[in-house]
Amino acid sequence: MATATKTFKNFIGGEWVDAGSGETFETTSPATGEVLGVFPKSSAEDVDRAVAAAKAAYEEWRLVPAPRRGEILFRFGALLAEHKDEVADLMAREMGKVLPEAAGDVQEAIDMSYYMGGEGRRLFGQTTPSELRDKFNMSVRQPIGVVGVITPWNFPIAIPSWKIAPALVCGNTIVFKPATDTPLLGERFVELLVEAGVPGGVVNIVHGGGGEVGNRLVQHPDVPVITLTGSRETGVAVLQSAAENLKHVHLELGGKNAIIVLDDADLELAVEGILWSAFGTSGQRCTAASRVIVQQGVYDELQKRLVGAAEKLRLGPGWEDGVDVGPVINKRALEKIHSYTEIGVGEGAKLLTGGEVASGNGLGDGSFYRPTIFGDVDPQMRVAQEEIFGPTTALIPVKDVDEAIRVSNGIEFGLSSSIFTRDVNTAFRAMRDLEAGITYINAGTIGAEVHLPFGGTKGTGNGHREAGQAALDVFTEWKSIYVDYSGKLQRAQIDTEL
Ligand code: UN1
Repeated sequence: MATATKTFKNFIGGEWVDAGSGETFETTSPATGEVLGVFPKSSAEDVDRAVAAAKAAYEEWRLVPAPRRGEILFRFGALLAEHKDEVADLMAREMGKVLPEAAGDVQEAIDMSYYMGGEGRRLFGQTTPSELRDKFNMSVRQPIGVVGVITPWNFPIAIPSWKIAPALVCGNTIVFKPATDTPLLGERFVELLVEAGVPGGVVNIVHGGGGEVGNRLVQHPDVPVITLTGSRETGVAVLQSAAENLKHVHLELGGKNAIIVLDDADLELAVEGILWSAFGTSGQRCTAASRVIVQQGVYDELQKRLVGAAEKLRLGPGWEDGVDVGPVINKRALEKIHSYTEIGVGEGAKLLTGGEVASGNGLGDGSFYRPTIFGDVDPQMRVAQEEIFGPTTALIPVKDVDEAIRVSNGIEFGLSSSIFTRDVNTAFRAMRDLEAGITYINAGTIGAEVHLPFGGTKGTGNGHREAGQAALDVFTEWKSIYVDYSGKLQRAQIDTEL
């Protein structure tokens, strides 16, 4: 598609508007450096306007029957499907991931929209007996109000859908702040929602940085729910500043996910799983496998095969055929990733392949980093403990399954985990003992499906989950209702006669 520089707007109260200040910022392609669009650099006043619009719209939206709200999501899913190639192409250009993965990102949003559209006819509560005669008890889910949605650039269509689709079907209204690295995709997401029939004010988008837009959303007294996917540092700061208003805060933060490969594993399958999980999306998934814990009997063989396969991966712009690994998001990310290579070397890890910025060969001005593998890594090294968010993985040798599980758990995060083994008993032990929100058996650490809960334990979050039924808990309050049709005062816990 043509990517002539165009100026975009916020969407507030059903209208496309500039930021009050008139200031702007640019979005560029990580593959080429080309400017793709100019966006409003919004301030707290723009956020206030959007929150006011969302708050006003909530009064009507909460009363729209949930199945009708769901129908809008069905239309949105269908529109995304119709525009899948176009949006995927845009994603390859603005965010950098390769086309098949970009199409997968859009597909995840399609799946989520249909799944949550279906919730419009469910949103189940419970009915239960009462301890008293002639009395009816039930619980129902109720919407909460305006939801502040703060999303990252790495899944620029899927993650907004994980948050916005359930929030909408539950009857909330939205102020959406997409990442400043992917505003075009955020904009496209909202355009399609509007086309699907979302009424004015129900979904608002405000572009701009975390400092201005994000902070105001988090502190605004009329935004009772914040959902954020981002770094651990941002998550902690959000929790702290939302505490004053006792907001509901849903956090999906970092990961340092490991694949365990035991001596009895199918090695060929394990190598494929590691390549996909470590270098897919250039390692820029919270679920990426940035550690590989290998039992000593297969360590040398696995290392050899993995390095050989990694060196065959082709780098290039995401939209070109045959490219395996796209750029990383920006120059700052490139520097951070490279600084971890230097840290790893300094710590005494063995740099087996990669470890450098890739240029030349048609890579132009892009932010490309060679798939990087460290060998003989000690589990306590920083490259084995800290989230790098790039195409870097660390091989950690261990002697047995006990040590493998201990090492896998020996980090501050708890998002995804994986084990390759042919032993069913070991597999079940791993399902029980790996401290993570997600465990894969004989598959890598990436590839969660939308109808299961997504999120992590320990430093990955604050006990909530998105996707699946669990997402509904973030976007609703439970109300318990007691209907007494006895015509007399019945006192619970006191009137106990049969
Ligand atoms: C993320 O990296 O934040 O399981 C989300 C996966 C994808 C989602 C990743 N379905 O890898």
